[in-house]
Amino acid sequence: MRVFQIGAAGGVGARLAGILHARGDESSGMHRNPAQADAVRATGATPVPGDLIADSVGELAEKMRGHDAVVFSAGAHGTGVDQTTLIDGKGLEKSADAAVLAGISRFILVSAFPESERDAGLGAGYEHYMRVKKQADVYLARTNLDWLIVRPGMLSNDPGDGFVAAGPAIEYGVVRRDNVAAFLGAALQEPQLNRAIVELTDGDLPVRDAVAGLLRQGRKHL
Ligand SMILES: NC(=O)c1ccc[n+]([C@@H]2O[C@H](COP(=O)([O-])OP(=O)(O)OC[C@H]3O[C@@H](n4cnc5c(N)ncnc54)[C@H](OP(=O)(O)O)[C@@H]3O)[C@@H](O)[C@H]2O)c1
Repeated sequence: MRVFQIGAAGGVGARLAGILHARGDESSGMHRNPAQADAVRATGATPVPGDLIADSVGELAEKMRGHDAVVFSAGAHGTGVDQTTLIDGKGLEKSADAAVLAGISRFILVSAFPESERDAGLGAGYEHYMRVKKQADVYLARTNLDWLIVRPGMLSNDPGDGFVAAGPAIEYGVVRRDNVAAFLGAALQEPQLNRAIVELTDGDLPVRDAVAGLLRQGRKHL
């Protein structure tokens, strides 16, 4: 499988690239900072320079062409409302449009729990981030792509243990970036897990069982 990663040098992206490389899948890791090329290469991915703000839909599509799936885990990480709009919002829209143009149907978005940290008084910028994340989900869900929206809880850098809770609606909680990456890796191997929103936290189910359970649930609704 050839995976095109947007946000490849980030916390979740780099971990996913390592998993893909270890199992023999190929990935191309898009990064905007030239200095990140070595870090992307070190994960086993092929670095691809690219910028969600500067690149057009056509340019993004050219970079994606020939891949089997796109994973979007980019984010403005608290650099301001305008950046949030341009990266988490418009950047996702451009990426989804580019996937359509490039003929890639599988598209996985790392989004966020809608209720995450809402009682923490994090201010207007955070509320803007949450609104943009939801709008990005809405945009992707309206496409004809085989999309999967993964909404992780609060991300932690604790070492992963491969155990998660996953479902269309679950209690909010913490999730290790390693566990998110493991879930994304497993979901990429199950193309039938699509047109679904999955909330994800640390839990007590091995990632593979969690993905298999989601597939069973999905079949019941068909
Ligand atoms: N933090 C949390 O608790 C939490 C909870 C739920 C969901 N999330 C979401 O989970 C996702 C992944 O999280 P993470 O920890 O992996 O984030 P991260 O470490 O901040 O990684 C995001 C990556 O996106 C890249 N990026 C930003 N703007 C870009 C642009 N214009 N063009 C191309 N790449 C760009 C960043 O590159 P630069 O280094 O150049 O900025 C960075 O490598 C994010 O979307 C985040 O919003 C976070």
